[in-house]
Amino acid sequence: MTQLPAVELHLHIEGTLEPELIFELAARNGMALPYASIDELREQYEFQDLQSFLDLYYSNMAVLRTEQDFADMTRAYLARAATAGVRHVEIMMDPQAHTSRGVPLKVCLDGIASALTDSEDEFGISSGLIAAFLRDQPVADALAVLEELLAMQAPIIGIGLDSAEAGNPPGDFVALYDRARRANLKCIAHAGEEGPPEYIRQALDLLRVDRIDHGIRCLEDEELVQRLVDEQVPLTVCPLSNVRLRAVDTLAGHPLPQLLERGLNVSVHSDDPAYFGGYIDENLSQVRTTFGFTAGQMALLAANGARSAFVSDARRRELLSDIDAWLHGQSKGGPEREDAQA
Ligand code: ADE
Ligand code: ZN
Repeated sequence: MTQLPAVELHLHIEGTLEPELIFELAARNGMALPYASIDELREQYEFQDLQSFLDLYYSNMAVLRTEQDFADMTRAYLARAATAGVRHVEIMMDPQAHTSRGVPLKVCLDGIASALTDSEDEFGISSGLIAAFLRDQPVADALAVLEELLAMQAPIIGIGLDSAEAGNPPGDFVALYDRARRANLKCIAHAGEEGPPEYIRQALDLLRVDRIDHGIRCLEDEELVQRLVDEQVPLTVCPLSNVRLRAVDTLAGHPLPQLLERGLNVSVHSDDPAYFGGYIDENLSQVRTTFGFTAGQMALLAANGARSAFVSDARRRELLSDIDAWLHGQSKGGPEREDAQA
């Protein structure tokens, strides 16, 4: 086994929509796109900040209209994830980004779920689905959608909080998270991507989340870092996303090595891989090369992901034992292993 078994915990399925598929779905649905070619669309993939990315991300989603569209997008992601060594994925979807365009919840859910059902047999990838709510929309909207998801017994394992972070604190969503917990759903939230360390504190104290998505700005608050270390709160870090959205200036300047060194429970993920220049394999190989991480450090990143996944104890043991086997293979490495992938 030469490829590190990966656990993908921070992935927006709508962020896997590749330009080629955007054009294909637009044609299938008889829609005109504001770009003459795939290349012209790609030229838009230059972002100043989170909001400039979100504008394009929401606008491109307009091509998703039918159950088949959602199924095709999800299946394309799973096929790509299999080549990246992904063994388990927890997929976020943004229900409100579709219902607000008149696409019924059932259409999105059935399409995504139909692709996920076959994932284990077809790709050897176990999966879970997480409904993420838009923090720049009112909490009442989120609650109404959550109630609808619960009423239709949607196959979700948890809820998340995403979209424009600055000025939209986690504390506004206490009622949503209380409801989700009563329904036995896992809770995660984006915090500390563009927003301040205070938002990470609110996500922990007010939303009582099981994981923080991003969280890199925790380093600005020493007391918070100590708490995150003590409680081993998972931080799902997305290095290439942070570079492309200018949360950091360069990959070499990314705080991942500090986060690891401090003993935080960090793992590496891809966020919106179609937009940020790489899936989880690319994120892993770029951090390995840039920071000169050892095989042991790469295995630790992967094992942190396995420790933080919402899986059964048996599945967790399988994932950890596969990561361990990879590490063992690396340490026995002779010249034939020099091309081993991160
Ligand atoms: N939605 C999709 N990607 C996101 C990100 N990186 N931050 C916040 N919301 C998002
Ligand atoms: Zn994200």
